[in-house]
Amino acid sequence: MILLDGKKIASQIKEEIAGRVGEIVKSEGKTPHLAAVIVGSDGASETYVAHKVKACKEVGFNSSLFRLEEQVTEDLLLGKIDEINNNNDIDGVIVQLPLPSHISEDKVIERISVRKDVDGFHPVNVGRMLIGQPAYISATPYGILQLLERYNIETSGKHCVIIGRSNIVGKPVAALMARKGYPGDCTVTLCHSRTRNLEDICRQADILVAALGSAGFVNADMVKEGAVVIDVGITRVQSNETKSGWKLLGDVGFQEVAPKCSYITPVPGGVGPMTIVSLLANTLRASLGEIYGRQRTGQ
Ligand code: GUN
Repeated sequence: MILLDGKKIASQIKEEIAGRVGEIVKSEGKTPHLAAVIVGSDGASETYVAHKVKACKEVGFNSSLFRLEEQVTEDLLLGKIDEINNNNDIDGVIVQLPLPSHISEDKVIERISVRKDVDGFHPVNVGRMLIGQPAYISATPYGILQLLERYNIETSGKHCVIIGRSNIVGKPVAALMARKGYPGDCTVTLCHSRTRNLEDICRQADILVAALGSAGFVNADMVKEGAVVIDVGITRVQSNETKSGWKLLGDVGFQEVAPKCSYITPVPGGVGPMTIVSLLANTLRASLGEIYGRQRTGQ
C-alpha cells in the first residue's frame, strides 16, 4: 500500500508556483492577487479562508480578505463582488461557502466574473469543463487529478466509482474521470443516497472516490483488493487526543481499508492540502490570462 501524500505533493507544487511568481512579476508587471470574501464567522469557514490566505503568502501572491457581517444584505454582497470584478489588480475571487440562508448562493456565484472564478463554481466554467473547453476546474476535483497524475496512477479503462453527487466534488469528478485523456478515460459510476447495491458497486471499483461526508462510511468489505482509494471526507469531531480538541475523520475507515489498497489518501494530509494548491494554480492561471485572455475592466 502506498500513501498518496497530499501534503508532500502540495508543498512541491507550492514551490513550483512560488518559483514562477518572480517571472510573472517581470512579464506581467504585477503580482498574482486572490480576493476572498467571507460572510459571518462560521468556525470551519474561518479556518479554510485562513489557510487559503496563508497559502497565498507562502507562494508570494497578494491576497485580500473581505469580511462581511452575517446579516449583510444580498445586494451589498453582490455590490462587493462587482467591485472586485472591476478591480484590475485582483486576478481571482472566492466567496467562501456556505452563505447565510437569506442569501442565494446561486446568485452570488453567477455574479462572479467567469474570468476571476478561480473556484470554478460559475455555471459557465462548469459547462466548459464538461464539454472539454479550457475552464477553471474547482479545487477539490483538480487536486484529486493532480494527485493521481503525480503518482502516475493508470486511469485508462479503469472503473472509477464515486460516492456523492455534490456540485463541488462528485459531479465534476465524474465528468473529469470520464473525459478523454489522462487522468481520465475511466468508466464512471456516480453513486448517491438512492443508489441500490452500493456495496456491490464499490467492490467493483478500481478507483474509489468517497465524497459523501459521512465519517468512516467506507469499510473493508466495500473495497476490492488493489483498489486506489481517494477520501474526500473531512468530518470534524471532538477529541481528547489532540491539542486543539478536534480531529478530522475521512469517509473511509482508514485502518481497515488501507491494507487492501494499492494507493490510499490519508485524512488529514491527502486531498485537503491538494485543494488549496489547486486554488493557487487557478489563481496563477487567472493572472496569466491563460483561460480567458487578458483581463479587461468589468468582464
Ligand atoms: N466551502 C467548502 N469548500 C469550498 C470551496 O472550495 N470554495 C468555497 N468558496 N467555499 C467552500
